[in-house]
Parts: sequence; structure tokens; C-alpha cells
Amino acid sequence: MDLVEKKIGEYCERYSTPEPELLKELDRQTHLRTLLPNMLSGHLQGAFLSMVSRMMAPARILEIGTFTGYAALCLAEGLTDDGILHTIEVNEEMEPIIQEFFNKSLLRNKLRLHIGDAKTIIPALNESFDIVFIDAAKLEYAQYYDLVFPFVTKGGYIIADNVLWSGKVTAEKHDKDTAAIHAFNQKVLNDARTESFILPLRDGLNIVRKISD
Ligand SMILES: C[S@@+](CC[C@H](N)C(=O)[O-])C[C@H]1O[C@@H](n2cnc3c(N)ncnc32)[C@H](O)[C@@H]1O
Repeated sequence: MDLVEKKIGEYCERYSTPEPELLKELDRQTHLRTLLPNMLSGHLQGAFLSMVSRMMAPARILEIGTFTGYAALCLAEGLTDDGILHTIEVNEEMEPIIQEFFNKSLLRNKLRLHIGDAKTIIPALNESFDIVFIDAAKLEYAQYYDLVFPFVTKGGYIIADNVLWSGKVTAEKHDKDTAAIHAFNQKVLNDARTESFILPLRDGLNIVRKISD
């Protein structure tokens, strides 16, 4: 769901650097070959993620929830020369399309795909991350956060997607997913080890900076 008014969104896309051909093609193939293509970050959010990555020049990035690899390709753009992006996807049916587009990317040597449950893979990665992008099961956001937090560098960022959940977080009654997202936002706000703000881009990004262990 896009929280920005359609015309404003189109204007922003039109006056931002155009989407690279590879990402355009991945968007098209995702629509042709998957059942829920709207899960893909898309041009504006992808451009934001790649801009953040370029600003930070991270050595290590972790994405939780690859889907077809769109956000992974965007985030990888700012990696240092020897930088690596790890991305975890539980649905093995996504592997062929992810690998196809990772192989077409000039950044392919920096991309590491892990097929499996993020909750078991995160502790086994044995890496420190400058940026973590949380974008998998909404009911599990708090678990991913707790699991990954010790591996985030001081001054590093956790960015969580869909934290406005189509605006449903503002409703009085919450369904299961909305309640989990709302609880996650509350948890982040109450975490004295961080500072954070919610950016109302697309479906909402909670941008969390780790200030202490
Ligand atoms: C919203 S999509 C990710 C979109 C992607 N980050 C992008 O921007 O293009 C969420 C993905 O998380 C995956 N997922 C759900 N639970 C997971 C888990 N426990 N571990 C790893 N991936 C998971 C789903 O299979 C789905 O492909």
C-alpha cells in the first residue's frame, strides 16, 4: 500500500533519477512471475534505500526478506569495494528469479543469498552489520530486531519496512498483523539504546540508529 497520494507519488518518481533498466525489468518479471508483486519495494523506496546506502558506504548489509531481490540490489549500490550484502529469504521458490537478477547485476560478487528462516540464519552469519533492512513476516519483526541488534555496529542502522501498515496502526482496533507492527514501533521507541524516526514513505519506514549496546 502506498500512503502518498497517487499524483504526488508519480511526480516524485518523474523528478527523481530514473529507475535503472535492471530494476525495471525485475519489477516487470516480479509482476509476471509472482502472486504478490506489491511486496517489492519499488522505484521510490528503492531509490531511497540506495541513497542511504551511498551516504553510509557500508561494509556489511543484511536484508531480512529478499522476495525477488529488488531492495537487495538497491541497498548494495553503496557498499564499499570489499563490501558484502547478505539477504535471507524463506521461500525457496523465489531462488531462481533472485539468482537470475543477481547474476545480471554488476554487483553480483557482493551479494550473498541465504534460503531459509531468518530466525535460524541470523545468529549463524557471524558478521557485524552497518545497515539491516527488516522486511519479512510482520508478526516476527520484534524477534528479528532482538536477534540482529547485537550484530549491528554502533552508529549503524536498522530500517524496518511497512511500519504504518496501510495506515491501520492509527485505527482504534488492531488485527493481528497491525498489533504486531504497532508493538514493534512501541518497542523501538522505548529502546534507550537507539534513536529513531518513522518516515511516511510508501508504507512507512522506521529508521533506527543504534547508539549503544
Ligand atoms: C515484503 S517481501 C520482501 C520484499 C523485498 N525486501 C523488497 O523490497 O523487494 C517479504 C519476504 O519475506 C519473506 N519471509 C517471510 N518470513 C521470513 C522469514 N522468517 N525468514 C526469511 N524470509 C521470510 C517472504 O517469503 C517474502 O518473500
